[in-house]
Amino acid sequence: MANFSFLRDKPEFALFAADCIDAEEALRKSPDSCIKLTRPALDAAVKWLYLRDKNIFRKNTDNLFELLGDISFATIIGRNLLRKIHHCRKLGNQAIHNEKNFTQEDAVRCLSELFEFVQWLDQRYGKGYTPRIFDANEIFAGASLKTELCGIKMNSPVLAASGTFGFGEEFADFVDIEKLGGVMVKCITLVPRAGNSGVRITETPSGMLNAIGLENPGVEKFLAEILPRIKDKFNVIVNISGSSVEDYGELAKLLNVDGVAALELNISCPNVKDGGIIFGTSPKAAAEVTAAAKKNTGKPVIVKLSPNVTDITEIARAVESAGADCVSLINTLMGMEINVNTWKPTLGNITGGLSGGAIKPVAVRMVWQVAQAVKIPVIGMGGIRSAEDAVEFFLAGASAVAVGTANFANPSVTMKIIDGLENYLAQRNLRSVNEIIGRVVL
Ligand SMILES: Cc1cc2nc3c(=O)[nH]c(=O)nc-3n(C[C@H](O)[C@H](O)[C@H](O)COP(=O)(O)O)c2cc1C
Repeated sequence: MANFSFLRDKPEFALFAADCIDAEEALRKSPDSCIKLTRPALDAAVKWLYLRDKNIFRKNTDNLFELLGDISFATIIGRNLLRKIHHCRKLGNQAIHNEKNFTQEDAVRCLSELFEFVQWLDQRYGKGYTPRIFDANEIFAGASLKTELCGIKMNSPVLAASGTFGFGEEFADFVDIEKLGGVMVKCITLVPRAGNSGVRITETPSGMLNAIGLENPGVEKFLAEILPRIKDKFNVIVNISGSSVEDYGELAKLLNVDGVAALELNISCPNVKDGGIIFGTSPKAAAEVTAAAKKNTGKPVIVKLSPNVTDITEIARAVESAGADCVSLINTLMGMEINVNTWKPTLGNITGGLSGGAIKPVAVRMVWQVAQAVKIPVIGMGGIRSAEDAVEFFLAGASAVAVGTANFANPSVTMKIIDGLENYLAQRNLRSVNEIIGRVVL
């Protein structure tokens, strides 16, 4: 994140935040325009301090030199910082009056002096943040999609969604898998499952219905044969499903091994021991499953929320309280299709999960609600087919996104999304998706 961008999250500094950010942005264009812009920023920041601190004697002047000259101001700010502020002011004045041509070094120095002052203000009067050294390289660095989620380093914030990307290997010919933030592999259960019989997938307008029935080779085979093959190639996020709370605990324990980056709990399955209630539709059951997994693993636990609920924030809060490190959403929406010639449901399982473009507005809405309700990061998914779709999720508050159904239509769609995101950031002079997370303008 750029040096001054932390000010965006500080409404208390609104009076000078935009000016500081503009000055920093201007450095990439020219040193002169940057230094010119530090002047209004400094002016606003000093005036903010005058308004804020009752120990500073109020002066009836707008003149920055006179304001800085007051003894009460000097006492509070300290000689060292005052000298830097004066230097910054002097350069700003010279730039405004076009008195000389400045070098990049001048501009960096001027910005760093302004930064030191702003940082001092934050420490003394703001809500605080980790102090940092002003870094000019950050300003000149290009856009980067590298990110970190729950301590997992990722080459991009774009992941493959569970059940739509196999175990990653199947897509090796179509994608540069290292560019992905990770692969949420097909769901794993304690024992192998053959899945549902009959038709399992059917296309719908702008999406598809599936009822695969959690077909998978089981945890034992996954650990013995599949994980060793994929573990060094990408972040392996293992999606797990169980039919009881204990199943999740057991799976978490078995998968607490080298090569597993994180667990994703698929809680859209029925609790067989409790009348078949879907874990993800009950705050209590969702919390129990989360706690059982957390107790048995040192890996980050991502809980995948079901959209088939009235208030998804209630479930999100419950799993956060139970220790979830992250939530991912949304899983598929329950749907059904009937063949009008046979009068029978199309899917062997009768009902299935709706995914793809059709569900995107529902997913964006839910990500937006959940991102406000919890403090843990959110991975957004549901109908993402393009970089613009992904941006919507970031603006809604997602820290990363996952792509599912779109992989069936175009197996290299994730690469197109990653390239598109890089362009989107570069065109807007943004250096990281962090700068757009949760920035929807209401
Ligand atoms: C064929 C298929 C299989 C899926 N299997 C799983 C699964 O095993 N576990 C899981 O948590 N979600 C599973 N999902 C849900 C997806 O991971 C994703 O949450 C959902 O499809 C929404 O994203 P999308 O619209 O981009 O596909 C599956 C989805 C599809 C289409």
